[in-house]
Amino acid sequence: MVSETPNVPGIGDLERILISEERLARRVTELATEISRDYAGRDLVLVSVLKGGIVFLADLIRRMRIPHEIELVGASSYHGGSTPAPSVRITKDVDQNLAGKDVLLIEDIYDSGNTLGVVHELLEIHRPTSLEVCALLRKNKPRRRKLEIKYVGFDIEDAFVVGYGLDFKERYRNIPCIGVLHPSLYQ
Ligand code: IMP
Ligand code: MG
Repeated sequence: MVSETPNVPGIGDLERILISEERLARRVTELATEISRDYAGRDLVLVSVLKGGIVFLADLIRRMRIPHEIELVGASSYHGGSTPAPSVRITKDVDQNLAGKDVLLIEDIYDSGNTLGVVHELLEIHRPTSLEVCALLRKNKPRRRKLEIKYVGFDIEDAFVVGYGLDFKERYRNIPCIGVLHPSLYQ
């Protein structure tokens, strides 16, 4: 049990904290500074994926030092029976044409890469000037589908994590740090 912030709903279900609120804040500031420097003078659009990416996006944009726009994409992935990879369905497209824009895809986590791969393909159709990916977390695991991630917040172990936008059955997105759920909650 974790008691760093005892009044936060769900925090007692964490087995351990992987990344504290302070480390997250420091790293998000570093990423925003780096992105602001790299994209200075360009027509930047940050595209995040619902719902997990919104907490990261909200913190990141408040630390950006250059003008930019935001867009949201909806994607849901589900395991359909015996197929090895889940199918990913786009549930919401961006609200503008991204042709001629510098697009940076903002994701909570690079896990199997299926979701990122499908959203990446969707954005490529727009023919943006550039298309790169920023993932707050990257799990250390083998992948069938590899994608180059230009900005990575943290490389983490291959564990199921929640908090800072990430959920288990739609809960725990509110937790301000990132932690590993107590295994008894899966069984
Ligand atoms: P993918 O396997 O890379 O396609 O990831 C699909 C989605 O599953 C991600 O965008 C996350 O929203 C979610 N996801 C993947 N790994 C975790 C995790 O450890 N905790 C919570 N959600 C996760
Ligand atoms: Mg989820």
